[in-house]
Amino acid sequence: MTKFALISGRGMGLMHGRNFNNHPDTEMLAVVEMDEKLLATASAEFGVPGYTSVEEMLAKQDPELVVMIVNETRRIPPLKQLLSAGKSVFTEKPLCGLEGQFRVQESDASVAAPAIKQWRESGLKFGIDYNYRFFQHFQMLNRDATEGALGEIKFLRARAHFNCWSHVIDQILWTMGRPEWVSAVGDPSKDGPWTRSIRIRWSNGVYGQLDGTNLWGYDDHPLRVMIVGDKAYGEARGLDGWYRRSKADSWPGNVEELWEKAGERAEYEDSFVRMTDGVIKAMHEDKPFPADGEAAWNELVFEAAVHRSCRNDGAIVKLDEVDADAMQSA
Ligand SMILES: NC(=O)c1ccc[n+]([C@@H]2O[C@H](COP(=O)([O-])OP(=O)(O)OC[C@H]3O[C@@H](n4cnc5c(N)ncnc54)[C@H](O)[C@@H]3O)[C@@H](O)[C@H]2O)c1
Repeated sequence: MTKFALISGRGMGLMHGRNFNNHPDTEMLAVVEMDEKLLATASAEFGVPGYTSVEEMLAKQDPELVVMIVNETRRIPPLKQLLSAGKSVFTEKPLCGLEGQFRVQESDASVAAPAIKQWRESGLKFGIDYNYRFFQHFQMLNRDATEGALGEIKFLRARAHFNCWSHVIDQILWTMGRPEWVSAVGDPSKDGPWTRSIRIRWSNGVYGQLDGTNLWGYDDHPLRVMIVGDKAYGEARGLDGWYRRSKADSWPGNVEELWEKAGERAEYEDSFVRMTDGVIKAMHEDKPFPADGEAAWNELVFEAAVHRSCRNDGAIVKLDEVDADAMQSA
């Protein structure tokens, strides 16, 4: 039985709270919510004590795991507080974005670096909700790219609406590994989300291209990732479930596999439940969470490198250098 506490009495937090509470191998101990009205409602729904601060909850309860569903603008201080108290933590994405998830910047990596350092030294479990790893179509793409069905990988092409931005980056890094460098154009000095066009290169010579904007795409598969190999290419699309693998350099009709799931956002809803199960299994088996702190950090380093490149007219920016610079101050 994993004893856990939930931080948040609002939308996403309640959804995660219900998924963790409904899991057969968990016991919910408490809910934390600074808004007293939301706290009363959540505490009544789950039938557990409610606290208005993390300090108060830690003084009165002893959860092994804290499901901390607060916004990226205010995630790092409670994360550090919980790690200091010896708690494992599951949280949402991106790890840090003081101006919100559509405007993650290099300074956000510096803010988050001390928490990552603390987690690496703690021996605790920490993970992030890259729930798209539990979409069946992205698992098919991952399988085909990593188990050889595509042959030797040559190229990656992806695009996403910003609502799916952290996830598309995680998908690319999960399947292809952390790239060596990025070169990106876009104007981060403007207010609001800044449209970005990113070239990516991995140390094995593979190239990729990722475009992000909030101006198009949510009505037409809000994210698409295509990986092209010398034997075949695979493409996974959207929140509803679509995957196709076709022979490389082929005419129409050479489809090797086509998988489609009916029902709008069907994979999306299910993926949260599958992630919850993955987190609880990892607690019980003493394994890293399905997407751990390294995955969270790699997304942030990628975003920081893109930001640095955009501020320098598309200059090539090495991720290892951005990582080292952010960690230096930690
Ligand atoms: N994985 C996905 O597909 C997906 C989809 C939608 C949203 N998200 C992510 O989910 C997150 C949702 O966060 P949010 O905007 O609901 O967070 P929020 O900051 O509004 O916090 C949620 C609630 O927790 C309370 N709270 C926050 N910090 C607290 C603290 N230290 N102590 C006590 N109470 C505290 C707030 O009062 C609030 O009611 C975002 O980061 C978003 O990116 C992920």
